[in-house]
Amino acid sequence: MIKKVETLLKHRPLMFVVVLLSSLVLLLSPILLGEVGTTKDGAILGFLKENAWSDFLGVFHPLVLHLPIGALILIFSMELLGKMSPKYRFDMTIPLLFNAGSSVLAVVLGLLWYYGGDDFSSASELLDSHMWKGLIYAVCALWLPLIYAAGRGRLRIFYYLTLIGSVVMMTVSAHDGGESLHGDIFTKAPWNLKEDSVRERSGDGDGTEVVASVYDPVLFTEIVTPILEEKCNSCHHSDHKVKSDLKFDTYADILKGGREQDYYPCLVPGDVENSFLVGCIELPDDDDFHMPPIKKDQITAEELVLLKWWVSVGAPEEKKLSEVEVPAEVQAILDKQKK
Ligand code: HEC
Repeated sequence: MIKKVETLLKHRPLMFVVVLLSSLVLLLSPILLGEVGTTKDGAILGFLKENAWSDFLGVFHPLVLHLPIGALILIFSMELLGKMSPKYRFDMTIPLLFNAGSSVLAVVLGLLWYYGGDDFSSASELLDSHMWKGLIYAVCALWLPLIYAAGRGRLRIFYYLTLIGSVVMMTVSAHDGGESLHGDIFTKAPWNLKEDSVRERSGDGDGTEVVASVYDPVLFTEIVTPILEEKCNSCHHSDHKVKSDLKFDTYADILKGGREQDYYPCLVPGDVENSFLVGCIELPDDDDFHMPPIKKDQITAEELVLLKWWVSVGAPEEKKLSEVEVPAEVQAILDKQKK
């Protein structure tokens, strides 16, 4: 069995074709999935979205991607070590194959997560950039074993170049991926924190310092209200002609709701499903209650995430950002807005 695999792997023209085709499939996958050119609703995409497996498997992406990261760093270090002393010169075929296999697996899971999940309906530039860099990295990883096998002697330089290229692609891709999950970590770095925050000396003279981040907005007035102001208030504020008796002048007005309040309560704190304030936004475009009415400036995916999050944490009137749970997706949006 192992012998058979070995002869197969040694069959260079065959491996060349396999690797070439796999690279093309990987690089074209966003196009095949209907991302480029069309809106995100290709046939394969529909299937992925329907299928619960894609979302479930996709969540393993952040776990599996650490395999190629570890493998690549090990390969790179061993090559360096081998340069220093012949004693440490090993055959890299197996590590390179492991790297290639785990990279492709990580990329496939990533694509499933991205295209199959609901979490990332708000596709961002950051995630797109992460996806492309990850794809390029996986393609490098696929070619590495072949270039390694083919490039003996002076040709070895191509292997080293691809290896270094892979390390670079992996680093930049991992950075984007990390940022999309956890926000820009450098804003939290100790050296940046000092600029961003104020130091307040507590008055009791014991010298304890409270370091408070300046950016700690009140959710309702500083995050939710601006969205309503921009997208809803032209029809739901007493400054204008109020539609359907629903005004968003004050928090109490929102709770009070409009004409349909008894059937579709406008705001049920903590209950996203039953809050028509967000429910109406997701109604089909041709529904009379689709908000804002379709000819008006629509709510963006990110704004919808923020509104839903506010309702889900209990639609507080006074609470600040630091007092509620902030999922990574929301944090990423807030970080972007801050810039
Ligand atoms: C261009 C005007 C316009 C804008 C902008 C607008 N709405 Fe409306 N809204 C209406 C009209 C008209 C109705 C009544 C629809 C009907 O009865 O068929 C309505 C009804 C509603 C209702 C149902 C209220 C009730 O109890 O009767 C909700 C909730 C609502 N809008 C929320 C919003 C939200 C949230 C936004 C912003 C994202 C928004 N609307 C933006 C015109 C607007």
